Amino acid sequence: MAIELVPLSLPLSADPSRFIEFGREVRGVNPATLNPEEVTEIRDALYKHDVLLFRGVSLTPEQQHIFTKELDPTSEGYGHINKPGKVSGAIQIFGLKTIPRVPAVQLLGNGTVHDHEGFEEVELKHPSHKKFHKTPVSATDEESGITRFCRWHMDAAFYDVSPSRVTSLYGLVVPKGAPQTVKYDDGTGDELPVPLATTAFVSGHTMFDILPAALKSLAVRSRVKYAPHMYLWMSPAHILPTGLGIETEDLEMPLDQLPEWHEAKCKTLPVLWKNEGTGKLHFQVHPCGVMELFIDPLPMGVNCEGALYPEGAHITNLKEVRDLLYRMQRPAISPEFVYPHEWRENDLIIFHNRGLMHSVVGALTRDQVRVFHQCTLAGSDDPIGPSTEDVNNWA
Ligand SMILES: [Fe+2]
Repeated sequence: MAIELVPLSLPLSADPSRFIEFGREVRGVNPATLNPEEVTEIRDALYKHDVLLFRGVSLTPEQQHIFTKELDPTSEGYGHINKPGKVSGAIQIFGLKTIPRVPAVQLLGNGTVHDHEGFEEVELKHPSHKKFHKTPVSATDEESGITRFCRWHMDAAFYDVSPSRVTSLYGLVVPKGAPQTVKYDDGTGDELPVPLATTAFVSGHTMFDILPAALKSLAVRSRVKYAPHMYLWMSPAHILPTGLGIETEDLEMPLDQLPEWHEAKCKTLPVLWKNEGTGKLHFQVHPCGVMELFIDPLPMGVNCEGALYPEGAHITNLKEVRDLLYRMQRPAISPEFVYPHEWRENDLIIFHNRGLMHSVVGALTRDQVRVFHQCTLAGSDDPIGPSTEDVNNWA
């Protein structure tokens, strides 16, 4: 049976014209037993559609690891640093549990889980915006189903290891409960109805595509430098109510108080990453971990009128860096551009981690059990930025 790619059903909040290529359900194939041609077809579809959904899947952690690795055969170990004594990955900060038998696969979710993949009893906690945001929603609002995006991100350490090309997320137990409403609480009045404990996705290509010309020019000329051990660096700070970056309050951990780090392992990456399958440009910045912004001057002969930083710049003021990134990224998380996935049990989603951003959403009570397996493998190289031709097109 041939592989069938079916558009995802979109919520009423989404603008269908912005999801023509984004997201497909894959039918007619079992991710546990793929032949090489099917792997190639799925890999091509992943770069083209960014999110692929498989329904009714039965997958062991070993099979999930193999499948994820097949989609990026050059990938290396787990996408966050995960060695005894090393503490820079999100793993310690966000409560992921490493499955002992298959360390590349992480257990995450909510509630108490018994006798699961080598864990006799394990307590999982759905990451809540209340732990990270400066102004969480009130208890009364929470009771009436108001929630937030927890934190928009890509799955990557941004230190020492390269960002993953692909993440797989497999939902074994999905909590049942009433839908919730994300409030943006940034003065826009934006709200988004979401299924309980959804994973929200936005396209990095759309993030670039909807920008006005002056911000496209800025994006195509810019690189960002991430903090060493960025999850620790940012851990004392607060996240904005939209989940898209950090409040500038000078709360970040001073660099000299972080565990040992080396300049050579710090990551400076282009703001735009070139899609290896389609050649499109995707705006890919984890705004929480950025310390500095490098802007190249406009190319020779380009009209400077209306251009931002026509002579180029190296911006180290955190507030200025964050304000510029927010201006460029915020439009793309508006309700009409968000795909909030309504999880069913045995859904497997693979997503192009170098082509989109995603966020954990919602709040669960202790008795709302959620059990997911995640696999994200570090890339063997860093993402490629815009070509000279891209810069000449967009600067
Ligand atoms: Fe993630």
